[in-house]
Amino acid sequence: MADQYAHHGEDKPPTDIPAIRWEEPPEGPVLVLLDQTRLPVEEVELVCTDASALVEAIRTLAVRGAPLLGVAGAYGVALAAARGFDVDEAATALAGARPTAVNLSVGVERARAAYRAALADSTDPQQAAAATLAAARQLHREDAEASVRMARHGLALLDELLPGGGHRVLTHCNTGALVSGGEGTAFAVALEAHRAGQLRRLWVDETRPLLQGARLTAYEAARNGMAYTLLTDNAAGSLFSAGEVDAVLVGADRIAADGSVANKVGTYPLAVLARYHHVPFIVVAPVTTLDPHTPDGASIEVEQRPGYEVTEFSAPQVPVMGAGGGVAVAPLGTQAYNPAFDLTPPELITAIVTEEGVVSPVTAEALADLYARSRQVSGG
Ligand code: MRU
Repeated sequence: MADQYAHHGEDKPPTDIPAIRWEEPPEGPVLVLLDQTRLPVEEVELVCTDASALVEAIRTLAVRGAPLLGVAGAYGVALAAARGFDVDEAATALAGARPTAVNLSVGVERARAAYRAALADSTDPQQAAAATLAAARQLHREDAEASVRMARHGLALLDELLPGGGHRVLTHCNTGALVSGGEGTAFAVALEAHRAGQLRRLWVDETRPLLQGARLTAYEAARNGMAYTLLTDNAAGSLFSAGEVDAVLVGADRIAADGSVANKVGTYPLAVLARYHHVPFIVVAPVTTLDPHTPDGASIEVEQRPGYEVTEFSAPQVPVMGAGGGVAVAPLGTQAYNPAFDLTPPELITAIVTEEGVVSPVTAEALADLYARSRQVSGG
């Protein structure tokens, strides 16, 4: 079950944004999410008391973004274990809630493995639940640490590629603290540049249809005092042709073994524009987003979302009217093409930045090396 229970003051945003947290009130453990569908209008928390509520929160994008989906999936398994539900059933439902972000199944499987290992050692379900929660917390911490390292590697790369400084960076979708245990992926690099006095401008794509750029990245940029400007996705071309973009920084939902990147729909056209205009196109993602088991982009399942997300506007401040809960902007019955992600081939990517280092040029061999090194470091 999910419940909306908390409102923060509208004129006084908190100084910290906990996108997710585990709580143990007397009634039993819960997973508390900052409901991202309501941002930036209000900060409402969504309380999940079971895995099915979390599955719904994942599908509706109350919790979203690849790294955070992994963390949420792991906590979801821990929640099932702590509340005595069928852990395998919960894990299967959670892993299948959205298909593209590999982090989701990685997080779920990590927690499930901890649960099984604990049960193999002892038949005490409470001990198994504690071990599952410890695994989820560990993943959460690791994600925060990975953010810090990605930010450093990413800024070093920007400084190397653009020695003149004063970077003007274009980003797409939302890749900040809202998607991470830390400060995120691509956004964390821009934030690091801002803190180093090296970010002249953050260009924020609005990211149709669900406006993760306008609603969430602009919100995070404003909170961090960054110089940012919002643009419609289809204004990016004119921005490039005006020479206003020095680099593109985006995240990833899954990186196939050949270096193909699945990310929010609209990423691929930016990569094409960047190549035409000789602008570096940089993907920033933790190692948990690398998927050595998926050979290439064509093998990545791209989530298709409901057409009403395109035929209606359903931003939180718009009054409810249409079938999907938004205001219709197309004739009734209009069919829509609404893939949530697109695929960018490795040859359009200047570099992939991870917490374990930078891969450039992007080749299957270099990615396999980095993945193997990261497994040695983590002992996995
Ligand atoms: O559909 P969303 O909002 O979950 O999509 C998120 C993205 O595409 C992000 O760019 C990606 O998950 C990387 S987040 C660090």
